[in-house]
Amino acid sequence: MALLGLVGPATFGASRPPVTGSGGAVSSDERLATEAGLEILRSGGNATDAAVAVALALAVVGPEAGNLGGGGFAVTRYPGTAREGISNVRFLDFREVAPAAAHRDMYLGADGKPDRDKSWNGPLAAGVPGSPTGLYELHRAQGALEWPQVVAPAIRLAEDGFPISRRTHDSLVEDQARLARFPETTAVWFDGDRPKTPGTVVKLPRLASTLRRYAELGPRALVIGEVAKSIVEISEKYGGILSLQDLESYLPTWREPVRYKAFGWQLAGADLPSSGAILMASSLWMMDRGGLPSTEPSSADRTHLMAEAWRRAFADRFLLGDPTTTGATASDLTEPAWLTDRWGSFDRQTATDSATVRLWSRVTRDAGAESADTTQISVIDKDGNAVSVTTTLNGLFGGALWVPGFGFLNNEMDDFAAAVQEPNEYGLVQGEANVVRPGKKMLSSMSPTVAWKSTDAGEEILVLGGRGGSRIPTGTMQVFVALAVDDAGLQQALDRPRVHHQWLPDAVYYEPDALSPETRAELERRGHRVDIKESIAQIQAVRMRADGSYEAAGDPRKGGGHGGVVDPIR
Ligand code: DON
Repeated sequence: MALLGLVGPATFGASRPPVTGSGGAVSSDERLATEAGLEILRSGGNATDAAVAVALALAVVGPEAGNLGGGGFAVTRYPGTAREGISNVRFLDFREVAPAAAHRDMYLGADGKPDRDKSWNGPLAAGVPGSPTGLYELHRAQGALEWPQVVAPAIRLAEDGFPISRRTHDSLVEDQARLARFPETTAVWFDGDRPKTPGTVVKLPRLASTLRRYAELGPRALVIGEVAKSIVEISEKYGGILSLQDLESYLPTWREPVRYKAFGWQLAGADLPSSGAILMASSLWMMDRGGLPSTEPSSADRTHLMAEAWRRAFADRFLLGDPTTTGATASDLTEPAWLTDRWGSFDRQTATDSATVRLWSRVTRDAGAESADTTQISVIDKDGNAVSVTTTLNGLFGGALWVPGFGFLNNEMDDFAAAVQEPNEYGLVQGEANVVRPGKKMLSSMSPTVAWKSTDAGEEILVLGGRGGSRIPTGTMQVFVALAVDDAGLQQALDRPRVHHQWLPDAVYYEPDALSPETRAELERRGHRVDIKESIAQIQAVRMRADGSYEAAGDPRKGGGHGGVVDPIR
């Protein structure tokens, strides 16, 4: 039976085989959501149908990140459409936008400094949700099944109920204090004053009826009428500025993805308003230039090389923001002449000082905590169509406010630079291109990625991406490098301990076991500050092999991801 073909969480670091099979593969953060995707593939749906069904199921069973009240990006590749002469690689941007009443200084306190409570908690932190129209548009453009079929698994989960997962419980406990500020939230997710315990079955009848109307009417069921009114009312009740006009006017945008090559593979990823693919394309170029394939995994040479590439790429991130207002573009920052210049200061034995990569600033604040508040969906169907979706509320449960019959509202506005040069939640230091303006999109690090490679035996396809704020691109790159350069197995590539650098703070972060004491000492000798970090991103990945077999794997970190295939082979 197909259910047996799911991989669940493993002890972090303990490698096990991925699930292998035929007919398609799905990976996501929650078992029930992955099962929803497999159900859709088995009933004849394609990769887009499955990815949208997983996203909607996550809005029910994974409320800390799955959402209707947030936004995200989808990168898709439909090889069959190439024959029709149209682009077969596409990028749908359904990132939130700043409400019309937003303004540049709205998150500053009386002292002129960023007031984190304003940009993090409650509805003032919310951008206009992009998921209701985004997921619908993704399906409209590329789905094969009827829309109601794709929404059906989410309706069933909300109506019949689902057991609270360990991850959701842990997240509820972690964020108990901010969730407890909103009675609308505790009424659903707490028993009395305590977060619901793992295994408690939760039914969400109001959300089920909203989803039923969404299945019937599409996004009109959410962005106008009763649901929209209750979003605005509850937002106003707690000091938010979302308006009916904001909700109704939101439109997702098809854009060109960033396309690039690395280590014999072709890749496509999310362009602005995400920095993800720009960071990946420029860093992988520099790693290649620095001779990464001749370094050993986990060695001082490889860690130094990756950290130096990331230092430069993240320094350039300072120039990025919404594509309509930014000063820099993907082609500016990924063109060989620019990268050659950036890489010119690389020294094989000595860390470059981040202050010299950009001269104006030194920031020492930590790279920030990381929680389970973004979610990655990776799917390949039986025809090799590939869909990579990353969707987010930003913080755990977004701004912590549950809108009855809709879900949590995001706190994506914190991804803007509340003040230029002040680090945000992820320790990212950002520039003028990313200040708040009405209708503008906040810069993201999300990195949904599709990669492919022709071999004599046929084409290999890889779909990956993940969550973890600024660690998303560095985590995604390390999984790619493990597969593309070291020929690691899919699960091994996810299990392998990771490192991270993001220019500022000027430090190499490493997961326990990522560096031996000798390697750590060697990095310090080269001038790096080195700091331990419990977990660096969570990546979900699926692969189609040249022989037509499929693999799915889940990241073991933070509660574990779940990969599944349509017809498992044992
Ligand atoms: O778009 C971004 O880059 C962030 N809002 C993502 C947040 C995130 O990954 C949190 N998850 N751990």
